[in-house]
Amino acid sequence: MAQHGIILTGQVLSYDRSPFADDPAAAATLNEAVLLERGLIAATGSRAALIAKAPEAEIHDHSNALICAGFVDAHVHYPQTAMIASWGKRLIDWLNSYTFPEEMRFIDPDYATLIAERYLDLTLANGTTTACSFATIHPASVEAFFTAAQARGQRMITGKTCMDRNAPEGLRDTAQSAYDDSKALLEKWHGVDRLSYAITPRFSPTSTPEQLEAMGALWAENPDCLMQTHLSEQTDEIAWVRSLYPSARDYLDTYEMHGLLGERGLYGHAIHLEPRERDRLREVNAALIHCPTSNTFIGSGLFDMAGLTAGGHRVGLATDTGGGSSFSMLRTMAAAYEIGQLNGAALHPSQLMYLATAGSAKALHMGDKIGNIKPGMEADVIVLDLASTPAIAQRHAHADDIWEAIFPTIMMGDDRAIREVWINGKRI
Ligand code: GUN
Ligand code: ZN
Repeated sequence: MAQHGIILTGQVLSYDRSPFADDPAAAATLNEAVLLERGLIAATGSRAALIAKAPEAEIHDHSNALICAGFVDAHVHYPQTAMIASWGKRLIDWLNSYTFPEEMRFIDPDYATLIAERYLDLTLANGTTTACSFATIHPASVEAFFTAAQARGQRMITGKTCMDRNAPEGLRDTAQSAYDDSKALLEKWHGVDRLSYAITPRFSPTSTPEQLEAMGALWAENPDCLMQTHLSEQTDEIAWVRSLYPSARDYLDTYEMHGLLGERGLYGHAIHLEPRERDRLREVNAALIHCPTSNTFIGSGLFDMAGLTAGGHRVGLATDTGGGSSFSMLRTMAAAYEIGQLNGAALHPSQLMYLATAGSAKALHMGDKIGNIKPGMEADVIVLDLASTPAIAQRHAHADDIWEAIFPTIMMGDDRAIREVWINGKRI
């Protein structure tokens, strides 16, 4: 049975280029409608033009709602769903007090499935259609996440979190078992449907040099996989890394010397970078993932968005749930804006929307598939109500242009703003 097309009308936002390159507003295009066919975006244009092109299509009119690509969250820990908003600790104490005990519970595959489903429910309600998640050390935590994402038809990335020291008994693997388990999961899942495997050493403090070496070898054998980890999040952490790796030039070097620096590398946080680290990350065109609600919640510091994007770094945006304090990419954009202000640089709404969609998709090397509304791309699309609460509606009512119309939703919006979510051309 041939599937008829779907036409969504509203204000359809797409990007022709990066809004960090020149005029942020001019980088975006607004169309009246988008046509979805066979799971893909078939065309954008005026309502009349798309009806002429696809007369059989089912039409969904959304008047002046915003229609954009589904949000792409470039760094999360789905296993931390149940311990989000845990009080009063900074990074290392937070990991030991809250995170590791919760991650221990994933020894039970049923618990992993329960939380994977809960995480996907919560994030879909917030308009997130793709996430790149850490799992736990347990292979079953990867199985649970991929199985749940596959059933929903989502493009999702995860990997077994590897750690063989400085973690409690029961939450440590070894260099060899991390390699073997990661390899088996990668071979089973990478490239299946819309799923991708990311090689996932947690961070240098919880891996021995032998384990980082093994992860580097696995990456060299599977160069089309992403590799995700953490980098220079808190100053105490950096001092600890220095004492654990006395021969390394800096934190980044602990990865570089073990084959864990590359273009498909995703480095979460990347706040307190040395000049050499910035230069090397730029040279290899690695992705830095900004996690603003986490960086304020755990008290980590201010990411240098303006400096790094001006320097040509590849940057993605992420919640970092549950170090991050929200499942919402709207709330995450608001926090990115606030951190920009504290750094003396106001991010334009076009830049914020780009970071949450195309920017993160490009960081994940998926910019040709998701994160934008362009013909041929996968139809992961959301419809945003730009007047979803009385407070937002009264500000939206006298907006002078589209960016002023969007900005109150960025700053004050939540899951109530997400009117519809389409995955692969199907409404959820
Ligand atoms: N560094 C190492 N592990 C983690 C984690 O789970 N969350 C955050 N925010 N930082 C980390
Ligand atoms: Zn993280």
